[in-house]
Amino acid sequence: MRVGILGGTGPLGRGLAARLAAAGTEVVIGSRQDERATATAGAILEAWPGRGLRVTGALNEETADTDIVVLAPPWDAAVPTARQLEGRLRGKVVVSVANALVRQGREMHALVPPRGSLASGVQAALPASAVAAAGHHLPADTLADLDARLEADVLVCADDAEAKSATMALFTAIEGLRALDAGSLASASAVEAFTAVLVTLNMRYKGHATLRLRGVDGTGA
Ligand SMILES: NC(=O)c1ccc[n+]([C@@H]2O[C@H](COP(=O)([O-])OP(=O)(O)OC[C@H]3O[C@@H](n4cnc5c(N)ncnc54)[C@H](OP(=O)(O)O)[C@@H]3O)[C@@H](O)[C@H]2O)c1
Repeated sequence: MRVGILGGTGPLGRGLAARLAAAGTEVVIGSRQDERATATAGAILEAWPGRGLRVTGALNEETADTDIVVLAPPWDAAVPTARQLEGRLRGKVVVSVANALVRQGREMHALVPPRGSLASGVQAALPASAVAAAGHHLPADTLADLDARLEADVLVCADDAEAKSATMALFTAIEGLRALDAGSLASASAVEAFTAVLVTLNMRYKGHATLRLRGVDGTGA
């Protein structure tokens, strides 16, 4: 299976690409510029030699032709990017990782996008695709360091059963991650907004907190 990451040249895309590739997944990093995509893929391979990573770069348009597509441009470009590639994304599972956040002094605040969440906005822009929301609470810097210990839950929301199970499988393949079924896309608003609290905590305590839930064993959903 090939996974494409649109806007994959940013911190989240680079980190997720490294972790997915380390899990044996073939990854295509997408960009608006071919050279940036190729350079980013090359930098990952150079940083982690001898691990057999399969990472290449391509324009976002070609990246959208992969089997499952992660949408990772800045949050305010998520819906426009989806709309632009709608034709190529038909019939595919599209994973929205975007959080609509704004910094206010020493805090991050969550904005409320139209339809309540960015993931719902992306689903509306892609009526012929199956959108899942996931990965919002993962810290890009920890993802990018393959030697760093990663231990986190990934809350996955989707209306479509196939999108949910494919997305859960994608994140579960990464060592240290546990994917949990967090319900339909209606829950994505709360999942996205909570990221503001996590980032605020990390700013205050200079930490790398992510999410790990207790009291749920992750089976029998
Ligand atoms: N950073 C994190 O720790 C983290 C964690 C969880 C989720 N997220 C979410 O993941 C997404 C990516 O985060 P990031 O920090 O990696 O973002 P970013 O660096 O701001 O942007 C990622 C890439 O998007 C492309 N891009 C920039 N402006 C664009 C535009 N107007 N239209 C289309 N593409 C554009 C750029 O690539 P090219 O110039 O190469 O096209 C850029 O390298 C965000 O939606 C964020 O909310 C981030």
